[in-house]
Amino acid sequence: MSLQALSETAQAMVARGKGLLAMDESNGTCNRRFASVGIAQTVEMRRAWRELLLTAPELGDCVSGVILYDETIRQAKADGTPFVQVARDAGLLVGIKVDTGAKALAAHPGETVTEGLDGLRERLQAYVAMGARFAKWRGVIAVEGDHLPSAACLAANAHALARYAVLCQESGLVPIIEPEVLMDGTHAQARCQVVTEAVLRAVFDQLVLQGVVLEAMILKPNMVIAGLSCAVQNTVDDVADATLQCLRRVVPAAVPGIAFLSGGQSGERASDRLNALHLRPGAPWRLSFSFARALQQPALEVWAGQEANKLAAQRALMHRARCNGAALKGEYSAAMEG
Ligand code: 13P
Repeated sequence: MSLQALSETAQAMVARGKGLLAMDESNGTCNRRFASVGIAQTVEMRRAWRELLLTAPELGDCVSGVILYDETIRQAKADGTPFVQVARDAGLLVGIKVDTGAKALAAHPGETVTEGLDGLRERLQAYVAMGARFAKWRGVIAVEGDHLPSAACLAANAHALARYAVLCQESGLVPIIEPEVLMDGTHAQARCQVVTEAVLRAVFDQLVLQGVVLEAMILKPNMVIAGLSCAVQNTVDDVADATLQCLRRVVPAAVPGIAFLSGGQSGERASDRLNALHLRPGAPWRLSFSFARALQQPALEVWAGQEANKLAAQRALMHRARCNGAALKGEYSAAMEG
């Protein structure tokens, strides 16, 4: 795969008015979300949920691609059509989560490093053969007081992200590089900005060191927001301004696209903030979304594991997808929530 073809895939992932549907929860995470709304935690229910998402009518209007999990990329619709084929028929690029999860970072209580580099080249080649065009790896950065994150946590996660990314490009996959600064905690927005800037600086230093081609990747960062338990929650304009300031300081203009994670924000809040980011013209990269919870959660609650609720759940998913598609044009407003 030429770098030109990879960079064209990256641009297609952030095509105007479109973002990514992250549906790559590990079985453990998917089961926890099912349990929270009373859905049985079985392989068949996970398959049925993913079928519901992938077959939502007109999903491709505002979604360019889907991120799948290892179990999901091997599954099929009830009628036997492989999910990869279903996605392609809907005009969606197929992506795959390839990290094996965040594990405790030795000697650093409360911090993690994401694993999955061993045997990664061979796994990537297998996913390419299955039809994947891009991949995802998530590093997790916790914030606590002035002592977390540690320099060790930043260095370990940045190194892993860069090693993953360069292997992806070698294998013909566009890497989504996701260093997530968690929203959990009491920290203020200013602290989130300092940490996010430091994280991204460490990540781009490593990407350059390892030889990652910046034109053929997508960055998936958090927005710059106060911790969920912080007494002061900033306005949507504050979030957009701080996020853009942070990104302008550290993300090279060569990167074609930045697709935000939702990180536990409500669907409405994520759309509102995404919209505000698009009311500030002149960003050198295409801004987009790569949401899991902010797209899926309302639909999951409507579905509740019942076949009879499938169409209503698909409508709930499409509502959030259309709200976010509108936000990418600066055309979202609370009135859309009806
Ligand atoms: P959220 O949008 O729920 O944060 O998930 C995005 C994602 O892909 C996490 O890795």
